[in-house]
Amino acid sequence: MPIQIGPITLKSRVYVPPMAGVTDLVFRDIVRQVDPNCLLSTEMVSSRALMNRPECRIMDLSDTEHPIGIQLFGHEPDVMAVAAQMAEKKGADFVDINMGCPVPKITKGKDGCALMKEPDLAREIVTAVKAAIKIPVTVKFRLGWDDSSRNAVEFGALIEEAGASAVTVHGRTRQQLYSGKADWSFIKKVKDALSIPVFGNGDVFEPEDAIRLLEITGCDGVAVARGTLGNPWLIPRITKYIEEGILDPAPCDVERLVLAYLHCVWLTRYKGARVGANESRRHLTHYTKGIVGSAPFRARLTQIANAEEAAVILAELSEMVAGSEGRREFLLHVENDNQKNGVKPGEGTGQAEKGFKSPVDLVALTPVAVPHHSVDKQVHAPAHYADHERCY
Ligand SMILES: Cc1cc2nc3c(=O)[nH]c(=O)nc-3n(C[C@H](O)[C@H](O)[C@H](O)COP(=O)(O)O)c2cc1C
Repeated sequence: MPIQIGPITLKSRVYVPPMAGVTDLVFRDIVRQVDPNCLLSTEMVSSRALMNRPECRIMDLSDTEHPIGIQLFGHEPDVMAVAAQMAEKKGADFVDINMGCPVPKITKGKDGCALMKEPDLAREIVTAVKAAIKIPVTVKFRLGWDDSSRNAVEFGALIEEAGASAVTVHGRTRQQLYSGKADWSFIKKVKDALSIPVFGNGDVFEPEDAIRLLEITGCDGVAVARGTLGNPWLIPRITKYIEEGILDPAPCDVERLVLAYLHCVWLTRYKGARVGANESRRHLTHYTKGIVGSAPFRARLTQIANAEEAAVILAELSEMVAGSEGRREFLLHVENDNQKNGVKPGEGTGQAEKGFKSPVDLVALTPVAVPHHSVDKQVHAPAHYADHERCY
């Protein structure tokens, strides 16, 4: 049975949930191009900040991203309702409400997971948001605030009663942050208590983990966050494993290094050389993790000032992992990208490009091809990110 979120019928059981500082337009475009059907979400967006900066570009979506939700956080029902209307206008397929963020900066203001301690307020928020928009409302939460107050089952029931169309449950408490292991058996209790679709979440890093989570929890779908860092291919691999029982191999090291470079270039083109290069560092670290002998290269990648520097280091790393053939293959893709865009890597004004189209074209990556899920058209993304300001 396909998952139904309100009127939306999903073609996939896999969800890439919100990650602040990660699931921006570039990241989502990359995921979308390797997996055409998974559910996507923006980074979390502050409803309060939106009131002051309604043009905040963090909610910009591209045409090819659907189905996609915009995640909001906040604790004022009326403000959340207005923010939800803005998200609806932006073209979101659903609005997700963050009731799981454990970060003190967020919970101190009664936002995020703090709402699990205030179920009446949480209900009020869902009711207000639901009444304000036509698209479905979903909620993401944890098992509870701490071990002595694991109220996810009652909380989920209340959220459903208030009108949510689906929930995502991360199998940890707020107190745990990211420590310990996600408790999938507790997620099962939530699933068993609700009639709306439930996405189980926490600690899925391999396709086999996803299957086990689905088996243990009985959840309708699986939400995969950290596992996708530097590894967007995990999503199509999970999808294929769930749907066809076929376990595709992980991409080879050079393939990862090529996408690491392209991710860096695309971020610099969207957000400008300085911001793009800074934000690329964390992605480069993830793409190179697990490659034997990569630690010294990774240390250098955390210092890059532009995409050209990344290219030099990644070319060396390609040579280390696959000899001169690896280096040649890597440089071929750099050259291919340069020719398409008419610039040298990292070259530019420091401004995000105007009229910029998302450059993601994984077909052009052959022979370093993405297995089975190549997409044959360019996606069109919002014009420029020079004044990109985060609303969180
Ligand atoms: C860098 C980072 C940023 C995150 N930002 C958000 C966020 O904005 N909203 C949210 O609901 N969860 C956020 N999360 C939590 C993830 O969506 C997810 O629930 C959590 O990482 C557990 O799933 P995983 O084990 O698959 O990573 C974030 C997680 C990470 C690692």
